[in-house]
Amino acid sequence: MNQPAYKDPRKPVGARVRDLLRRMTLEEKAAQLIQNPIGRDTNPNNVGPDHPFDPTIGSVLSFTGGAAARNAFQRMAVEGTRLGIPILWGYDVIHGWRTGFPVPLAQSCSFDPSLTERACRVAARECWADGGVDWTFSPMVEVGHDPRWGRNVEGYGEDPFTNGVFAAAAVRGYQGRRRADLRKPGRVVACLKHFVGYSASEGGRDYSYTEISARALREWYLPPFEAGVRAGARTLMSSFNCIDGTPAVANRETLTDILRGEWGFDGFVVSDWGAVSQLRIQHFSSDPAVQTLAALTAGNDMDMSDDVFRNIPALVKAGRLPRRVLDEAVARVLRVKFECGLFEHPYVPELPREKTCRLPADLDLAAECARGCAVLLKNEKGLLPLDPRKVKRLALVGPAADDCPALVGTWAAMCAKNHEETPSLRDEAARFFPNAKIDYTPGCALPPEGAPRLRTVDFVEGSILDPGLPPDRAAIAKAVRAARAADVVVVALGEPGWLSGEYKSRRDIRLSPAQEALVDALAATGKPLVGLVAAGRPLAFSETAAKLDAILYLWQGGSRAAQAAWELVTGAANPSGRLAMTFPRAVGQIPVFYNAQPRSRENLFDYLDCPHENDPWLPFGYGLSYTTFEYGKAKAAVRRGGRVEASVTVKNAGKREGAETVIWYLSDLESTSTQPVRRVVGFEKVSLKPGETKTAKISLSRKDLAAMQPDGTRRFEPGEFELSASLRASARFVAN
Ligand code: BGC
Repeated sequence: MNQPAYKDPRKPVGARVRDLLRRMTLEEKAAQLIQNPIGRDTNPNNVGPDHPFDPTIGSVLSFTGGAAARNAFQRMAVEGTRLGIPILWGYDVIHGWRTGFPVPLAQSCSFDPSLTERACRVAARECWADGGVDWTFSPMVEVGHDPRWGRNVEGYGEDPFTNGVFAAAAVRGYQGRRRADLRKPGRVVACLKHFVGYSASEGGRDYSYTEISARALREWYLPPFEAGVRAGARTLMSSFNCIDGTPAVANRETLTDILRGEWGFDGFVVSDWGAVSQLRIQHFSSDPAVQTLAALTAGNDMDMSDDVFRNIPALVKAGRLPRRVLDEAVARVLRVKFECGLFEHPYVPELPREKTCRLPADLDLAAECARGCAVLLKNEKGLLPLDPRKVKRLALVGPAADDCPALVGTWAAMCAKNHEETPSLRDEAARFFPNAKIDYTPGCALPPEGAPRLRTVDFVEGSILDPGLPPDRAAIAKAVRAARAADVVVVALGEPGWLSGEYKSRRDIRLSPAQEALVDALAATGKPLVGLVAAGRPLAFSETAAKLDAILYLWQGGSRAAQAAWELVTGAANPSGRLAMTFPRAVGQIPVFYNAQPRSRENLFDYLDCPHENDPWLPFGYGLSYTTFEYGKAKAAVRRGGRVEASVTVKNAGKREGAETVIWYLSDLESTSTQPVRRVVGFEKVSLKPGETKTAKISLSRKDLAAMQPDGTRRFEPGEFELSASLRASARFVAN
């Protein structure tokens, strides 16, 4: 009876939006475009001033009070305001809520997007039920070419295609496979970020300028976003950077012409934290009214935390902001709120945590993901896997051996970094080596989270990892004694969990001097030496790596990282990760990535002081297994209509079951505008029993073959191409 149309769930979303919009005052509309934290923001990344709670605002972010408190605030909006518009609750749920999954960069190394989809499904359920989160600021889908940039850890590596596949998987995991799924309990709205080009920051320095050609934008930075939009992502976050003189937050070409015009996106865009008022720092304008106009007219809809959108009513009244622009932005925000069922279900159930989080299946999935993400970098003389029956004395050494936060990494949400919830390598070791005496001694330490901001004076011995501390000779000597007494030494190295992420760029990405000294001393014992590395970025430690017999790169694997590590070390599982980002030999080689343009001279060294190799230390796609895979001949044929069909057989030629990722690379050998030496056009992870053979296939359209032009368009040009399967087998073909 007399229920307004917008409250009627049987009405189509468009009609509900229109009905609500026409009832709203200017102030109510403006408020829907505002996102703020409640009170003091407890997110250490985003420390800001106090904000009094306004129940008419569109969204709250980073609220850590839990479901019941969230519901109490929500009640103020739903029952205490004129129109009862529920608030959308946003949070950075990047790789899990309470169950910690591997960091996204690690996830992409699994080359198994189904793991990401399932992990995001769990994260969605946990954050919704436990934290009252409706909207996650994830996935980050920025192509990263510079491992010094701290935020690569949040994305899926250096390849645009792989980023796109994982973007789509994450969106499906958070939101569901169909738009209607978003209404189901335990689904959250996804947010593709940061739109666009932030990862191109000069020198890998966070928040820096980006010079991006039309071509690079289309070839590298935009495709993952397009894939995420096609998968149904309902929101995007605009970025901090400035592309070729236009701040991303004021970039109409990307936010409107491309995103909405070309891709048909009809969700909404939120600006990044403070990015609108940051226009002052970028010397665009220090006038909040101008900042507001620039952001809104470019295509941002909601403003994260600046509070400058409070200017909207005055701007409309003064005739400076067209009502149409405001109404479109508000309509987009409301549409998403209707789509996710917020008007019907504004509250989340207040269930005990044990019923919603860290269920046994969630933790099993965390272990499965961590196993799938780790990459075996080296295995001299088949040292791994270790046979636990034969190991009688194991020396467990290194600063990451008993460090829980090092296994979790940045943006951990509510994932506890303690021994109970995230067992360390040391905690789990005995379970896997029941017959061994385990001697643990760290040899050196990683600086704890919350260490004071590092200043210039802390840069001793060329690294910030041991601020003020040279290698501790006594600690190393103790580790050496343990090594001498052991059958095998496992040394756990890496960077602290807090040293990658936002505002965590590093100029030096080697291991710390203390860790290098520790490895030197351990290697001198002549004992078999296994390195386990926990890190949030590719570390350039090829020289130290040469002294280790085997290396398993764990990344930051989350709640069950240690279990997964030992399963891999002991052969209960076979490593199958492949690098989604190139590992440089030295910092001076950066940027170095697989899909570079061809150079203009052959047979010359890139650097005179590195006269052995031009190649990076470890290329994209690299990773070993305990078994071996044989590739047959690759075949490629051009069908009528222009489709290219290619296939290759892969055989498990070893004695263990294993999984091989067949990565298909396309090289365009003749084009009027030069193309990358190769680019990924597909991949498939195949599990193979010993002796088993499977065929991997790919089918490409003319569009897939089209060459990128300087203006950012793609055009098919007839000529010769090459398709390579993991650089192990290739076939050439001519397409006309
Ligand atoms: C980051 C975003 C994040 C936001 C909210 C910003 O500083 O750049 O990635 O989603 O904070 O926490």
